[in-house]
Amino acid sequence: MNDRNELEARLETATRLARSAGAIQRERYESRLQIDTKSASIDLVTEVDRACEALIVDGIRAAHHEDAILAEEGGDHVRADNAATGYRWVIDPLDGTVNFAHGFPRFCVSIAVEAEEGESLVGVVYDPLLDECFTALRGAGARLGDRLLAVSGAPRLGDALVATGFSYDVHSSDHDNLSQFGQMVKTARGIRRDGSAALDLCYVAAGRLDAYWEFKLHPWDVAAGRLIVEEAGGRTSNVGGGPAPASGAEIVSSNGRIHEEVLAVLRANDSRRSRFRCVDR
Ligand code: IPD
Ligand code: CA
Ligand code: CA
Repeated sequence: MNDRNELEARLETATRLARSAGAIQRERYESRLQIDTKSASIDLVTEVDRACEALIVDGIRAAHHEDAILAEEGGDHVRADNAATGYRWVIDPLDGTVNFAHGFPRFCVSIAVEAEEGESLVGVVYDPLLDECFTALRGAGARLGDRLLAVSGAPRLGDALVATGFSYDVHSSDHDNLSQFGQMVKTARGIRRDGSAALDLCYVAAGRLDAYWEFKLHPWDVAAGRLIVEEAGGRTSNVGGGPAPASGAEIVSSNGRIHEEVLAVLRANDSRRSRFRCVDR
């Protein structure tokens, strides 16, 4: 059982650090950037990703020095082992780096605190350009600023605005989400690819989107947003309908009402399944 005061202290720290990192992003938005590539030529990291991560990690070390930290850009300062306190921070210092690098105004800071088992207890996602701060504390609801969030009431996928994304190996991998995306275009009212998984999840929580799914994400992409959706009354799962893995390997999120319809489209259009069927014949 986690202590409520401990969690509230970490929520306060996460919110403060997300706002500070967001201020760096706001200042450097549309400025000249040093940009490097990571796993693929389309997987970018900028000096701003690194500066935001350093600020957040330093802030956690100062306030909660015994907690463990998993941060996307890594580095000597990051410890991903067991914390003395049982808490682990999971940080995406800039979610939406490709957008940021192109001056497309959709990116955020995502910070979560997990229990040892990988269950998110605190989630903060901050959009610096809109000055929108999404927060959640497990069992206490999700908020945008002070306002409690609730998912939409869309009853059918045909009435739904849905979002997705594509992983950085999309140029080379067959597990590319394209057949699922194609069928969703034909089924949902509308579909978006906005380039920030954490904000997509928060938009499901806020009822701006009715569903969002993606494959091959990482823990830092989903740790905060998943909690925010669940605390807003939404559902998250894997494609089989079981719990969404903390690894981010697959996540389907929705207002709950349309969840089975979304899962049915994803299952029926899995490019790997049709390939396996061809091989079987
Ligand atoms: C990416 C964004 C994007 C999603 C990618 C993620 P990054 O995170 O969330 O929306 O489609 O799969 O990797 O690299 O900008 O932190
Ligand atoms: Ca990310
Ligand atoms: Ca990132």
